[in-house]
Amino acid sequence: MEVHNISPVLIQNANFGIIVVDSSFHIESLNQAACEILDIGGNPVGTPLDKVLKEAAGDGSQTLTQALYDNNASPVNVVINGKLKILEISAANLFTPKSVKEGVVFFINDISKAGDSAKASKDDLNLETIGRLASEVAHELKNPVTVIKGFSQLLLKKQYDEEQITDFLEIIFKEAERAHSFIQDFLNLGKTKKLHKKQINLSNLIADSVAEIEKQCFLNGIGIVQQIETSSKILGDYNQLKQALVNLGKNAVEAMELCDGPKRLTFVLMRDSLRDKIYIKVIDTGNGIPPQLQGKIMTPFFTTKKYGTGLGLSITKTIVEQHGGKLQLSSSDHGTTAIIELPCQTINQEAVP
Ligand SMILES: Nc1ncnc2c1ncn2[C@@H]1O[C@H](COP(=O)(O)OP(=O)(O)OP(=O)(O)O)[C@@H](O)[C@H]1O
Ligand SMILES: [Mg+2]
Repeated sequence: MEVHNISPVLIQNANFGIIVVDSSFHIESLNQAACEILDIGGNPVGTPLDKVLKEAAGDGSQTLTQALYDNNASPVNVVINGKLKILEISAANLFTPKSVKEGVVFFINDISKAGDSAKASKDDLNLETIGRLASEVAHELKNPVTVIKGFSQLLLKKQYDEEQITDFLEIIFKEAERAHSFIQDFLNLGKTKKLHKKQINLSNLIADSVAEIEKQCFLNGIGIVQQIETSSKILGDYNQLKQALVNLGKNAVEAMELCDGPKRLTFVLMRDSLRDKIYIKVIDTGNGIPPQLQGKIMTPFFTTKKYGTGLGLSITKTIVEQHGGKLQLSSSDHGTTAIIELPCQTINQEAVP
């Protein structure tokens, strides 16, 4: 993706600072809000970001640079041209279709202006989320669209034999599917989808979910264990709950793909009759989630994967909560356990007001 192709309208109209840098941290573009927040005069495009920050913040530029590279949403205090400012900074990497890092986009919110700091942090959280969302959506769609455009152009040249044309069409189809599935996930995010509830057999649900990821497990030498300790049925939306389990299963597989040692994916189904709850656990033997990331993993678009959308866990959480349940993850460096807790609701209970 060419960094300067990020929508200029989006950059200029945002009321929070946006700075886009190329892979050598030279400024590609920035908006008016960024110039105002950092008190940048003239046209800094093409200038190294460090240099511009030094001019703006003098001694404070180190704190600012550190905050930019840490990509930590906690506010930092910086003196810019003699004025104390409280800034919240976040960043997202930009990649080429071949996954080469091509630049970074920084989002900067000045929360010092609002007198009420509680309100400021609430508003800025929204701005940060919107900024990240816009950049992630652009990033996720830009890659497949670039590939589709490139291969369609090749096809239009009509210079290729049938076999090559089939290869190109397959690539186009795969990328269109990727974009379609992203858009689908994006549209479903946060939406309370109408559930089609019926009595479902949870061991069948687990078996069906396992079938979806079996091939990926086999290819990665991952053994699958199904520990079914109860024959419970609950009232739920089969397809939605299956999607939740497949999302957790995929995360587990992806966590074990590159790790050493025994690779095991365990699905546990158990019932706590006293509390009237069902538990479905998805346990992996991967390297776990680093403690500093554990608070972020449910945030939409948070991902540590090259091709991840970062929507899997948010979608799973929404589905589980729509069923009156809870999703929890616990992790150590020996692996991760995702626990879905669901109420043991049956058809008869649902009929009771
Ligand atoms: N079982 C796990 N082991 C280790 N890390 C995990 C596990 N599950 C989730 N994570 C971390 O949480 C992040 C967010 O997960 P989520 O499923 O929301 O998105 P993703 O897997 O990155 O992308 P997508 O689900 O769209 O493929 C992952 O990128 C990963 O860093
Ligand atoms: Mg995932």
